[in-house]
Amino acid sequence: MTPDLTTTVGKIQLKNPILTASGTFGYGEEYAEFYDLSALGGIILKGTTLEPREGNPPTRIAETPAGMLNAIGLQNPGIDAVITDKLPSLSRFDTAVIVNISGRTVDEYAELARRLDPVPSIAAIEVNISCPNVQHGGMQFGVDPVLIRDLVQAVRGQTTHPLVVKLSPNVTDILVMGEAAVEAGADALSAINTLLGMAIDVERRRPVLANVTGGLSGPAIRPVAVRMVWQLARELDVPIIGSGGIMTARDAVEFILAGASAVAVGTANFVDPRAALKVVHGLRDFCGTHGVSRIAELVGAVQTG
Ligand SMILES: Cc1cc2nc3c(=O)[nH]c(=O)nc-3n(C[C@H](O)[C@H](O)[C@H](O)COP(=O)(O)O)c2cc1C
Repeated sequence: MTPDLTTTVGKIQLKNPILTASGTFGYGEEYAEFYDLSALGGIILKGTTLEPREGNPPTRIAETPAGMLNAIGLQNPGIDAVITDKLPSLSRFDTAVIVNISGRTVDEYAELARRLDPVPSIAAIEVNISCPNVQHGGMQFGVDPVLIRDLVQAVRGQTTHPLVVKLSPNVTDILVMGEAAVEAGADALSAINTLLGMAIDVERRRPVLANVTGGLSGPAIRPVAVRMVWQLARELDVPIIGSGGIMTARDAVEFILAGASAVAVGTANFVDPRAALKVVHGLRDFCGTHGVSRIAELVGAVQTG
């Protein structure tokens, strides 16, 4: 029996629950030489801003014992280049394409959504309100429910595409942030982005990253991410894309049991460019060996009582 891996994230239909996390898979094309991207449930593109950005100066990445710290700073070619140069060639793959957007102001986010609205080839827009590595915008929005509401409402008003709001873990109560996003019109939530961290070179007595602080990702953050997905799923009637340290199919199942309808593989793509594909295959095997006929059966199926 071939298990049914299809899933839906609100209005977004996916052939399987495995996506690639924004910023860890370029614009997809970079990975097409390693495997057929049509095997994936979807691709979440690198964070895109209104204007092209160079990102932060190096050093921008540091290894930690269980993951990495990054302060890329949203290097990207800008929304117009993404629409004209990146999106058309991705339509040859049979996979959902989700564009991840970031801005300095509410108006910038709204403008990004307005420009993407007429683009038919995208499955959704992921609104990144959680980037810890830029001076303006990013995380500053994701830690304040009033700003989240304003921002999501403004974006909602500019597009009929499904909106996924990507939450920051750098908050005391993730639920308050999730609730604000849903009330303002988010169709789904993405949880989580990176945790703010710092590494110091003890010989030089200087921070390793030029930006001083950066976002921690990889296996180190998985328990935090699973906990936050579970907290959101338990209280809110909204589909969730889980991410944070997924390296294997078992890790993906953990998020699905916690309540995620789909998951995004991030840092693992840097370790092995075929990581997301392996998670798809592993998930199929897991369902086979555990008698799971439909992956949807597992969504939120953790028993805590
Ligand atoms: C190098 C790097 C760049 C990232 N860039 C973005 C980005 O542009 N937009 C965004 O929403 N998240 C970005 N993220 C966060 C990831 O999409 C993901 O949510 C996070 O890394 C947790 O998953 P992981 O532990 O599997 O990597 C980035 C992460 C890394 C490591």
